[in-house]
Amino acid sequence: GKGNHRHFMMKEIVEQPAVIGETLSSFFNPRSRTITLPDLPFDWKDLPKITIVACGTSFYAAMIAKYWFEKVADLSVEVDIASEFRYRNMPLREGGLAMFISQSGETADTLAALKYAKENGQHIGSIINVEESSMGRESDFVFHTQAGPEIGVASTKAFTCQLVTLACIAIDAGVQRGVIDHEEEARLCAAISEVPARAAEILESHVNIKNLAEKIFEANDILYIGRGTGYPVALEGALKLKELSYIHAEGYAAGELKHGPIALIDDTVPVIVVAPSDPYFEKTASNMQEVMARKARVIFLSDAAGIEQLGEHAVGSIELPSVDPFVAPILYALPVQLLAYYVAVLKGTDVDQPRNLAKSVTVE
Ligand code: F6R
Repeated sequence: GKGNHRHFMMKEIVEQPAVIGETLSSFFNPRSRTITLPDLPFDWKDLPKITIVACGTSFYAAMIAKYWFEKVADLSVEVDIASEFRYRNMPLREGGLAMFISQSGETADTLAALKYAKENGQHIGSIINVEESSMGRESDFVFHTQAGPEIGVASTKAFTCQLVTLACIAIDAGVQRGVIDHEEEARLCAAISEVPARAAEILESHVNIKNLAEKIFEANDILYIGRGTGYPVALEGALKLKELSYIHAEGYAAGELKHGPIALIDDTVPVIVVAPSDPYFEKTASNMQEVMARKARVIFLSDAAGIEQLGEHAVGSIELPSVDPFVAPILYALPVQLLAYYVAVLKGTDVDQPRNLAKSVTVE
């Protein structure tokens, strides 16, 4: 059931600290601050590159993972949406690794992409939330996220559990490849081990996010911008908002604004800025100033330091905990989920069962 919640989606949002912790406990040792993955049928050192394929929100998890693998494992990563990947006859070098991310394990396009990779000599790994699934059966190895059943059509807790799983895989790959030493591993592990507690803190700021929803729910178009892993978070925020509230929303890499979308900006277009304190902060901040100069109403997602610097210019801010930039995308996923949720509630849409959508897309 929904417990005390009006919607499954809210129940699933607030479950995140617990299920992220649960998912982490399968391969994370908090005492030694090390990660132990099950035996994998390949050596990370032998891989020239990896391919990650998924659809929708699961694809945004793949995009975030790309930044992680590149940074901590010095491994180039190709990501693609399954509906494109399955038909473009991509050349794959024998013995490569292809990973597939899916809450359901049944998404038709992702399953077809997996079969293509298998026929083309790849090691097949998948990250799946449902215990028994078609993708699981076709995979050489499976990481089961421990999000528990996700009933709301819009993915929330499955996404953040995919992310912590991918973060741990990337760190392990970095250690095996000799890119990061045990000290760096311990530092990243410490950051990850804090995620459940930081997520719980974020969930305490509901009321603020609900008030901000009132400032944007009457808009016709909303832009989300971010850089680095904040870019896929912006895409995810826009997807959540459009599917739940039916407001047109777009996520953009902040640096792309001046290549087109800034033409949309006026005082009727709110811009949600995803800007944790990380090496991209100043760049994103200057994009934020550019949209404000064109009268955009900005909602600013940052930590105390970021808000101190720029918060006064925004119509509203969501203050997030100060964390290692490596884990920021996991945590910044929560306020964008909550914002979409509260906007949808204000619009009176069917939050758990948005029109035209199915939980598991088993036809292409
Ligand atoms: C968005 C959403 C969808 C799914 C997509 C993939 O909130 O839920 O975009 O992420 O249909 O589904 P899975 O992960 O089951 O393959």
